[in-house]
Amino acid sequence: METENFEEVERKLKRYNQEHLLDYYNNIQDENLKNKFEKQLENIDYELIDSLYKKTTIPIKEEVGNVEPIDYWDKERLGGKYDFYENIGIEAIKAGKLAAVTMAGGQGTRLGHNGPKGSFDIGLDSHKSLFELLCDGLKEMGKKYGVEIPWFIMTSEENNEETTEFFKKNKYFGYEKNVHFFVQGQLPMVDTEGKILIGENGLIKEAADGHGGVYESLVKSKMIDKMKELGVEWVFIGGVDNCLVRMVDPVLMGLAIYKNVTGAGKSVVKANPKEKVGVFCRKNGRPNVIEYSEITDEMAEATDAAGELLYGESHILCNLFNLEAIERMGSNPLPYHSAFKKATYIDKDGNKVVPDSPNAYKFEAFLFDAFGELDDMVILRVKREEEFAPVKNATGVDSPETARNLYNNLHKHIEIK
Ligand code: UD1
Repeated sequence: METENFEEVERKLKRYNQEHLLDYYNNIQDENLKNKFEKQLENIDYELIDSLYKKTTIPIKEEVGNVEPIDYWDKERLGGKYDFYENIGIEAIKAGKLAAVTMAGGQGTRLGHNGPKGSFDIGLDSHKSLFELLCDGLKEMGKKYGVEIPWFIMTSEENNEETTEFFKKNKYFGYEKNVHFFVQGQLPMVDTEGKILIGENGLIKEAADGHGGVYESLVKSKMIDKMKELGVEWVFIGGVDNCLVRMVDPVLMGLAIYKNVTGAGKSVVKANPKEKVGVFCRKNGRPNVIEYSEITDEMAEATDAAGELLYGESHILCNLFNLEAIERMGSNPLPYHSAFKKATYIDKDGNKVVPDSPNAYKFEAFLFDAFGELDDMVILRVKREEEFAPVKNATGVDSPETARNLYNNLHKHIEIK
């Protein structure tokens, strides 16, 4: 680094109480490691990290705003309109206007899986990974409509290499020319004193900055430009962990086009007030999601005259946006939420510390915090047993076992429309 730049970094490290990083840096012997560390030192936004850490120590009263339930369309009850919307969507899909994005920055840690979550085998007879199941869906629908749907996969610094290797090893499931990878952003983790941690690999410990970075990453990585070149106008954005995700849904797309909105989301009825899913709502008149960790019991349990949960439209991470909306959402910074996690690190004496309880903060942006940028969104309620089988935990709820059963039931009984 040029002396001038380095002096600026040194000043920042002092100002933000991170001088331990400088001591560590000065003691690095390995030239290659030292260079990488230097790059990290230069790129970190210390002011941001400082303010995020401070927010974890001072409880901040979030502005609640005026929250109301949101209206929705039930896919089962569209009656004669079903075909009408479907045809609009089919026409757009056939014209090559749809692309799919899968957010796959996460690891399968909670599942006890050592590797990218998408490479996890949920135990079907075929032993297909989540990535392959998702790819099957794209291929099948593409064949049905005579197009090849481009597939953009968001990885993280942590799993990019392993993910791309996994695809190579599996010959891209026969979908190579349509697969594009891009890497999401990351932020350093800090301890309970706000000090940035050093990881086991001798570098500053950084973690994926949440799926809220998806819009900005699509823009920065120029994937948006690639989409434009391909003639894409609509982008489905979903998670990697739902083995029933339907990334190509002409009804959802037709509804969004006809209603002239820039975003659309799928929901399923919340199984019970305590289910760990976010719910769609309106906040100050705009679409939004209240996360399960942030909803009050009173709101979670409130029902309407028919006895249905007032906030019962679960957000299942299946959303569709037009390109203009993505660019807009990608140009405004989102708030970060903090999570207290277990993080192995190297202490100031160079010893590796493996904690047995949470010891560090990780900062993440949520993609739905950007929904307020949209004038409106249509919500389409779909059937849980047809579209939502997440794999989150090793056993019990949302586990490989529940996902496998849902997958097998669906594929036994109905032909996917
Ligand atoms: C998430 C949603 C919740 C929704 C539920 C449905 C959040 C904060 N909440 O909860 O509203 O009802 O799913 O299943 O997302 N990912 C990345 N990069 C990251 C973080 C996550 O790509 O930095 C991807 C994961 O690989 C996964 C998806 O985002 O595909 C969901 O992330 P996860 O952390 O599992 O969210 P949940 O807490 O389960």
